[in-house]
Amino acid sequence: MEEFQDEKIKIEDLKPDKSKRILTGIRPTGHLHIGHYFGAAKSWVELQDKFDTFIEIADVQALTDNFNNPQKVKDNTLQIVMDLLALGIDPNKCTVYLQSMIPEIAELTVYYSNLVTISRLQRNPTVKTEIAQKRELFGDSVTYGFLGYPVSQAADITAFDATYIPAGEDQLPLIEQCREIVRKFNSIYGETLREPVEVISNSPRIKGLDGNEKMGKSLGNALYLSDDYDTIKRKVMGALTDPSRIKKDDKGHPDVCMVYYYHKLFSTINEIKDVRSECENGTRGCVDCKKQLIENINAKLEPIRDKRHYYEEHPDEVKDILMAGTAKAKREAEKTMEKVKKAMMLDY
Ligand code: TRP
Repeated sequence: MEEFQDEKIKIEDLKPDKSKRILTGIRPTGHLHIGHYFGAAKSWVELQDKFDTFIEIADVQALTDNFNNPQKVKDNTLQIVMDLLALGIDPNKCTVYLQSMIPEIAELTVYYSNLVTISRLQRNPTVKTEIAQKRELFGDSVTYGFLGYPVSQAADITAFDATYIPAGEDQLPLIEQCREIVRKFNSIYGETLREPVEVISNSPRIKGLDGNEKMGKSLGNALYLSDDYDTIKRKVMGALTDPSRIKKDDKGHPDVCMVYYYHKLFSTINEIKDVRSECENGTRGCVDCKKQLIENINAKLEPIRDKRHYYEEHPDEVKDILMAGTAKAKREAEKTMEKVKKAMMLDY
């Protein structure tokens, strides 16, 4: 039966239910920055108390556009797990696992690939945008693997029988495509797979220090959870401020200033009010304003960084956590595989 989703379901509105699985994935291509944190990871920490939470370290998906740089994917895999643990993901509540160690995902991808047309993949808005952004890598002809990554992502989701998928705007077309694959599979081979539901979050997308709408490694405008005090200081000192404010006592426009924007994320309500009025009246200079922000950001990131240092010094512990999560996730994928093979008459 088709489910008509008029209004998107918000993560914040979901009723806690430990029997429901929520699944998300992250490509290990760089350390986590505060855009990941405020935009997604912070809510995962809350979700682990409410649902059976799975986080996939999607190294196979990362290779679809980093096939020529396996070292980068490998190096970032444990780093991402360290970031997740540092910001509060608890391996006793949340299953963190590695995609490449679960061959069932690859196997499902092969079977699902019969249920998707090339033109449908080419029309996927997220894939379309990404191909356009990656002309340097792909030239005029995209790889089969990259074009097909939505199929592999459908396998990521269905292998673990996930009910909810937290998603930002860019992930919605991928989940929609997964739902189509599930419906097609079930209509041909019989009711076997669960149709996942996307849940959106109120979390904002965080702008870069340079004012760019997106924070990203390639844009060079990101603050990382692993950044030390001096790095935070250097980056905040270089952040975009009101360009019309030349002298210290010029009246400023906080709404065009990235320092004010970050005060709203890291400072207390009273501090934010003071920053606004003193900037607007020209009584506080940008340097003082930045110094206060540096201290506030550092105070928030310090405990995360300290926890991360512990894991950096105990990489074997991090690896053990990932391997235990992977073993658990693999057992779930095996169950799905058995059902799928039976439905497809491949259960020899
Ligand atoms: N495509 C996602 C991203 O780029 C990562 C991802 C991989 C994912 N597998 C997933 C997200 C499964 C949700 C569910 O961020």
